[in-house]
Amino acid sequence: MELKNKIAIVTGASSGLGAAISKALVHQGIKVYGIARNLQNLHLLSDRLGENFIPVSLDITHVEAVNTWAKNTFSEKLSPQILINNAGVGYFRKIDEMSYEEWKTMIDTNLNGTFLMSSQVIPLMKKQGNIKHIINIGSIMGTIAQPESSGYSATKFAMQGFSEALFKELRYDKIKVTCVNPGSIETDFFKNSDIKTHSNMLHADDVAETIIHILKTPDNVLIDSIIIRPLIPQAK
Ligand SMILES: NC(=O)c1ccc[n+]([C@@H]2O[C@H](COP(=O)([O-])OP(=O)(O)OC[C@H]3O[C@@H](n4cnc5c(N)ncnc54)[C@H](OP(=O)(O)O)[C@@H]3O)[C@@H](O)[C@H]2O)c1
Repeated sequence: MELKNKIAIVTGASSGLGAAISKALVHQGIKVYGIARNLQNLHLLSDRLGENFIPVSLDITHVEAVNTWAKNTFSEKLSPQILINNAGVGYFRKIDEMSYEEWKTMIDTNLNGTFLMSSQVIPLMKKQGNIKHIINIGSIMGTIAQPESSGYSATKFAMQGFSEALFKELRYDKIKVTCVNPGSIETDFFKNSDIKTHSNMLHADDVAETIIHILKTPDNVLIDSIIIRPLIPQAK
């Protein structure tokens, strides 16, 4: 896809990978609607990225809020070509130590939020004749499960299945669907866990550049799923 002057939605744009993807997209000449709950962080990013980054304060788990925002923002004349379903949370605990609230927050954010946003955007995409692209941020933990990742892995394995079904369903509407499964990235993601970030982890900017490459593939080429790993996972 030629990226200049396209319109994108990035969920979870207020920090980490979503902020890096938003920056990379704006640098390609794309207008980005950056969604998160923390409006202050979104405004800080907007100060850096300029008028092509539009901060949107929205909780993607709220059905009415998502539907109202999409209906009030987009129309047949103003419609996104790119959707990055990136917002996500993770709680890493033994199953008998995980609260139902933590489990539900992961399902609501990682999975239900992805459905809510996609189901609003896909009808708008279907009305456009050109190529469109949905990128779902999964995880390596959606391909290999580990102890204390049951809830998170459940959502990310689901993301893989959701993405594969969508790519087969939407290919004839010229909508590409890619599930990007990164290994550990050095972000705030682990703030709710005992996992310590270290510089051998992937860097958000590098994952974002890979996503730009995936978006730029020729119109007849689809990368449906990709795993990105850090070369050396543990700091020595
Ligand atoms: N870091 C890693 O090692 C890693 C590895 C593989 C995959 N991933 C995936 O990468 C994605 C981004 O994570 P990250 O590493 O960048 O972590 P992060 O820095 O914690 O970012 C998570 C983002 O999601 C947003 N978010 C959370 N709940 C939301 C909600 N209900 N509505 C709207 N936005 C919400 C947060 O913003 P607000 O709090 O402002 O709403 C934040 O912008 C996630 O899907 C994660 O599962 C991360």
